[in-house]
Amino acid sequence: MTGSRKLFVKSFGCQMNVYDSRRMADTLAPEGYAETATAEDADLIILNTCHIREKAEDKVYSELGRMRRLKEAAAEAGRDVLIAVAGCVAQAEGGEIIRRAPAVDLVVGSQNYHRLPELIVRTSRNGPLVDTEFPVDDKFDHLAAPSAAAIRARGVTAFVTVQEGCDKFCSFCVVPYTRGAETSRPAEKIAAEVERLAAAGVREITLIGQNVNAYHGAGPDGRPWSLARLFERLADMRGVERLRYTTSHPLDMADDLIAAHRDLPALMPQLHLPVQSGSDRILAAMNRRHSCADYLDLVARLRAARPDLALTSDFIVGFPGETDVDFAETLRLVGDVGYAGAYLFKYSPRPGTPGADIDEQVDEVVKSERLHQLQQAVDRSQTTFNRGFLGRTLPVLFERPARRAGQIVGRSPYLQLVQIDAPASLLGAIADVTVTDMARNSLFGALTQSSSQDTSHVPAHAGTGA
Ligand code: 5AD
Ligand code: SF4
Repeated sequence: MTGSRKLFVKSFGCQMNVYDSRRMADTLAPEGYAETATAEDADLIILNTCHIREKAEDKVYSELGRMRRLKEAAAEAGRDVLIAVAGCVAQAEGGEIIRRAPAVDLVVGSQNYHRLPELIVRTSRNGPLVDTEFPVDDKFDHLAAPSAAAIRARGVTAFVTVQEGCDKFCSFCVVPYTRGAETSRPAEKIAAEVERLAAAGVREITLIGQNVNAYHGAGPDGRPWSLARLFERLADMRGVERLRYTTSHPLDMADDLIAAHRDLPALMPQLHLPVQSGSDRILAAMNRRHSCADYLDLVARLRAARPDLALTSDFIVGFPGETDVDFAETLRLVGDVGYAGAYLFKYSPRPGTPGADIDEQVDEVVKSERLHQLQQAVDRSQTTFNRGFLGRTLPVLFERPARRAGQIVGRSPYLQLVQIDAPASLLGAIADVTVTDMARNSLFGALTQSSSQDTSHVPAHAGTGA
């Protein structure tokens, strides 16, 4: 197929979805679809939906209303627009989406993105189509590899999916149903993808998966490799300066992964390790299968391996049956761990999950009050964490221009945003920054004198405005 057509992908939700959106664009690029930043001029609109957040479906349907109006306006001007819904809501709702929003042409489940080119042709010829099958073959094998130019245009950091699905069945969570059983990609396929990204100028790789530290992909020796073993392989690669991973379950935090935080300098001292609650009673009801003391013990072992480890977490407030005493235990845990940040969620029942059937649902007003209190505790913790960096020097990987002219933004090893006055020629480089000021969410500073002269880290494409 030839001719240039425009593709607009809107991602809702987690980093998994951002990554999937990029892969969908890569798969469609050879079909002549170029990405556009606005829905108004797109020929194909894909909403990549997320089920986890509250009112996810409502948001998708209201967005579809807007897209329907765009489609009608385009039709009046003699232009066809296709609307596709992908992601977890597509997987969960299937044909229901087309019944409720007839402007939708295609519903594609999370396992079938590699079939997008074929599905789009079939939809344009034959009308609305739903494809939410779980195929038996390996979808990773079919997705198109991004070109070097595409990689460069997207910047110096990249996500690589190594694992999908989840077998943990936390009682609030829909992922095991929408994303299916846990699967891991073979190590060498991941290594090849990382090699390609590094060769194209990517400096930081984040390995992602719903339960990434349960990774057990086949190694080249035919035996399953752990995530730690995979990191050892990737840490040696030329051009790979920084490695991260997300999201992890405490039960899968194996000893060799803890040791990797001590032994691999490329593995950044930062870990997202959701605990969800500080109450043993609620943890049990959530089917998390560990206690609060187990989590604190794990944190202690991680910090013994890597004393400066920055920890973040997810918390759910108002899980069914959560009392004031349970909630106080969550507040205490936040104080005890000293988080660098956390994402907070009000419990929202997901149809089909065990949590939704529990009678003692917590009142919305109580949930909001607890969310507010917990947010204050997390904010205090984050401020304390960031304050500890005032006056210190940190290596920062510069990712993009800041909104304010003349400034650029990067990330510290601890994933903090760092903003400084510097030329765009430093984008893609790692340079030392002395921290002079802070806000809760970011650090400010100036290039440390000696490193501002040092351009040895600057990759060939620095200055292309990544
Ligand atoms: N209600 C509220 N929060 C949820 N999460 C997952 N499912 C729900 C739900 N039903 C949160 C968890 C998870 C994060 C990605 O979303 O905290 O770690
Ligand atoms: Fe959901 Fe994470 Fe629990 Fe898996 S481990 S069921 S993805 S919350």
